[in-house]
Amino acid sequence: RGKKAFIAGVADDNGYGWAIAKALAAAGAEILVGTWVPALNIFETSLRRGKFDESRKLPDGSLMEIVKVYPLDAVYDCPEDVPEDVKTNKRYAGSSNWTVKEAAEAVKKDFGSIDILVHSLANGPEVTKPLLETSRSGYLAAMSASSYSFISLLQHFVPIMNPGGASISLTYIASERTIPGYGGGMSSAKAALESDTRVLAFEAGRKGKIRVNTISAGPLGSRAAKAIGFIEKMIEYSYVNAPLQKELLADEVGNAAAFLVSPLASAITGSTVYVDNGLNTMAVAI
Ligand code: NAI
Repeated sequence: RGKKAFIAGVADDNGYGWAIAKALAAAGAEILVGTWVPALNIFETSLRRGKFDESRKLPDGSLMEIVKVYPLDAVYDCPEDVPEDVKTNKRYAGSSNWTVKEAAEAVKKDFGSIDILVHSLANGPEVTKPLLETSRSGYLAAMSASSYSFISLLQHFVPIMNPGGASISLTYIASERTIPGYGGGMSSAKAALESDTRVLAFEAGRKGKIRVNTISAGPLGSRAAKAIGFIEKMIEYSYVNAPLQKELLADEVGNAAAFLVSPLASAITGSTVYVDNGLNTMAVAI
């Protein structure tokens, strides 16, 4: 039986979510994705028009099939949480059932259960502001979109996950060591995500035999990263200073994620796994 994976946070073919989807598809999984509501239209249109066909190519030459695209806004857990101005916003009004609870219900209705849950999303409206200048609402928004969203996804998807299933999220080393420029509470949000990974691994392990890990990924020029503004510098810094002096490919993170959610990693849970060309091990750059 092929495994089913739900990947939250895919809206183009540049990010880690897309690369993880491909690695899982190459390993034989059925791919369902959750796409941020404001990005849904352009993503579905691009898919339909074949804009991603080149990047849908799998190692065996076939094209990755996305079985279904679900609209999702992971900062809202249920319809009662959605403020009026969002509900009536024209980018949202055209879609339905996009809160986390409703998305899980829709997946359950369509497919019954899943095996793999991927959280590949983050948002921090004040990411370009130093922490010292971050507003309370900006900080809480970063935590809501980037950390609590993972708790919420697990809360609603664990009940439809088959025992032995696994989940994975993406984090960044700014959680542990200072990276000037990764502001707005995003460093805090990643620290929370890593801590939560340990606690959730215990709870989901006991509750449903579900594993929970996070990948601390090196820099990638994704859409989200470009919005931060310093990604090219981080990529260059990594190239100069990491033990492995090569470009970090999104596919390398995709492959590591595929390993971590597979039975090959059946004893790994609660871990933060670095996929960063080894940069995290360096103290002094030469
Ligand atoms: P990306 O732009 O491909 O992915 C971020 C996704 O989050 C986008 O598809 C966006 O539409 C979605 N999103 C934002 N707010 C959302 C919400 N409220 N509900 C649902 N979806 C929402 O960019 P990337 O960089 O691949 O990001 C994926 C993950 O990787 C994030 O957690 C990011 O922090 C992490 N990461 C990225 C690194 C990088 O250098 N690009 C380095 C380390 C970690």
